[in-house]
Amino acid sequence: MAGEPAPLQTQTPLAPCNLVIFGVTGDLTHRKLVPALYDLSCQGVLPDGFTVVGFGRKALTNEDMRLLLEKAVDDHYGSAVVDGTACERVLLAPRYVQGGFDDIEAYRRLKDELERLEKRTGTANRLFYLATPPSLFPTIIRMLDAARLARRETRRAVSDGAPRPWTRIVIEKPFGSDLRSADELNDVVRSVFDESQVYRIDHYLAKETVQNILMFRFANVLFEPVWNRRYVDHVQITAAESIGVEHRGIYYEEAGALRDMIQNHLMQLFALTAMEPPIAFSADAVRDEKVKVLRAVRPIPPRDADRFAARGQYARGIIDGQPVPAYREEEKVSPTSSVETYAAVKLLIDNWRWEGVPFYLRTGKRLPQQLTEIAVQFKRPPFLLFRQADMDLEDVVPNLLVIRIQPNEGIELRVESKVPGQDIGLRPVVLQFTYGSTLNELPFSPYETLLVDSMSGDQTLFNRDDQVNASWRIIQPILDAWSRNAEIDTYVAGTWGPEQGYALMANDGRAWRRG
Ligand code: BG6
Repeated sequence: MAGEPAPLQTQTPLAPCNLVIFGVTGDLTHRKLVPALYDLSCQGVLPDGFTVVGFGRKALTNEDMRLLLEKAVDDHYGSAVVDGTACERVLLAPRYVQGGFDDIEAYRRLKDELERLEKRTGTANRLFYLATPPSLFPTIIRMLDAARLARRETRRAVSDGAPRPWTRIVIEKPFGSDLRSADELNDVVRSVFDESQVYRIDHYLAKETVQNILMFRFANVLFEPVWNRRYVDHVQITAAESIGVEHRGIYYEEAGALRDMIQNHLMQLFALTAMEPPIAFSADAVRDEKVKVLRAVRPIPPRDADRFAARGQYARGIIDGQPVPAYREEEKVSPTSSVETYAAVKLLIDNWRWEGVPFYLRTGKRLPQQLTEIAVQFKRPPFLLFRQADMDLEDVVPNLLVIRIQPNEGIELRVESKVPGQDIGLRPVVLQFTYGSTLNELPFSPYETLLVDSMSGDQTLFNRDDQVNASWRIIQPILDAWSRNAEIDTYVAGTWGPEQGYALMANDGRAWRRG
């Protein structure tokens, strides 16, 4: 029935906790975390006794911190519509601890502050959230240990009926900048926390449509029988953006499209599409299968990386009718930069299900539109029944299943259908489901989901250490090959990427669905 969409609720009420945000004055806290906390508060999901504790270098008072959070909510929603009561719950007496990230005394002050709070609110659950630049992650983790804030756990123990207070750490992306640095960071994390306490973020995993991939595959009987090399010709995974690098030139110059999007977000989409059914819908069972398929990816030969990967950088062009600058003209970007703003990769999987079925992944900034989708292209029927018609088998348009992650979230299935009339003629038609018009529920935003899951102790939507390692291992040969050759093709902003990107497909006799 149409009407007001019903807000979602968590299944069980969240246990109270104190959320310590490192990098509380930063962009991520302002744009994502605080608005998500406010939304959770509006929906009545935040538990009583929930307090935000900010940690940062700037000299701020508790009141400054409250104003900072308030401003983040106002900037996101517009002060006119902000619900004061809900806001109060997020902003209720937030605490601020000032200090350098490598200053042990500051961490001791943080410990004192937490212990005071814990006495007052009666909860000793701690959620540490690392929202700082990634170079600070190892330092903060080591300092949490040195100040005895980390409270390493082994198993969630229940003594005398009451669960022990927990300590968890949420780590933002990027997790490492290559295989070696990711492994090193994992070593630091493991030296202080048990894996069960660690929540490595990939916000794509928390998108409703991404979560739906598993439901779609494993709650229906129709698709799984054809989800393999007998029926699937290839799979295309696209995450296109029309925005440029905006104000993130410094970060992007270090990252590039391969690290920024493919190593994490697209690799998640790939793993969810290609993995075997897990033995249960539990964090470790799902993550075991993801790791397994990532490990089954055929290693890309470093000397032959060009056959498996393509890159490009946007030149000036037109987006939505407006001229836009070249990447090299963006703020804080080198005028001679060879960083890729487009990357495409072909992955082959050495297992029984997928032998010989390529998965093509591509992403780019300043492409014509924002679009994230997984397109599973099926094979043609084995022979042409309709010989009377003036057509060849090649004229039959293969079935295509598109899982649209954003925008217009939904699923489309392309099938051939008879054209009405006396003659035999076929035309592809699309069977379509869209979230917007079919499901009348307001989903949590990715950051709301991630906050709720980390507070409730559900690691399903977070990256495990071995998964991080496996996905870096896949792309490392490409990083190595590209670092040896600084020459990069350009593409005009507002087009679907460089020649190399098209060639990656064309060399296999295929073409991108769009572009
Ligand atoms: C981030 C990348 O992780 O994901 C950005 O750093 C990118 O460069 C963003 O724009 C895309 O996320 P979304 O949710 O807008 O598709």
